[in-house]
Amino acid sequence: MDLGLKDRIAFVTGASRGIGRAIALALGAEGVHLALFGRDLAACRKVAAEARRRHRRLRAIVVPLDFAQPSQVRPAVREAVTALGAWTSSSTARAGLIAAA
Ligand SMILES: NC(=O)c1ccc[n+]([C@@H]2O[C@H](COP(=O)([O-])OP(=O)(O)OC[C@H]3O[C@@H](n4cnc5c(N)ncnc54)[C@H](OP(=O)(O)O)[C@@H]3O)[C@@H](O)[C@H]2O)c1
Repeated sequence: MDLGLKDRIAFVTGASRGIGRAIALALGAEGVHLALFGRDLAACRKVAAEARRRHRRLRAIVVPLDFAQPSQVRPAVREAVTALGAWTSSSTARAGLIAAA
């Protein structure tokens, strides 16, 4: 399916499993570059690898983030913006898409 999202950028929280993982892989399959936020970095890296396997030119980075530690949020977002570029809109927290641009 082509949803016209190729080369856009998505920030996905809770990316290690469940809905966040599914969102990441679905967006990755559309050619959306991914910043995957989570606590379980090994699991997030597997999601990133799977997304890249499905879409070879995809950029997918893993950023450590525990939402129980609010001080981690700003540096994590800054790291993702530096790596992938800016984003302009936001939606859910905890697990799911937090931004796409
Ligand atoms: N599944 C449904 O049908 C459904 C329906 C409506 C709403 N929801 C809501 O949608 C959310 C996700 O559902 P899910 O089924 O995908 O849940 P899940 O499989 O339990 O996944 C939760 C995700 O959130 C991450 N997470 C939890 N606490 C975190 C924290 N402090 N910092 C960073 N990441 C954290 C987990 O990361 P770790 O791997 O590090 O634990 C995991 O990636 C939940 O809030 C759920 O209540 C789910």
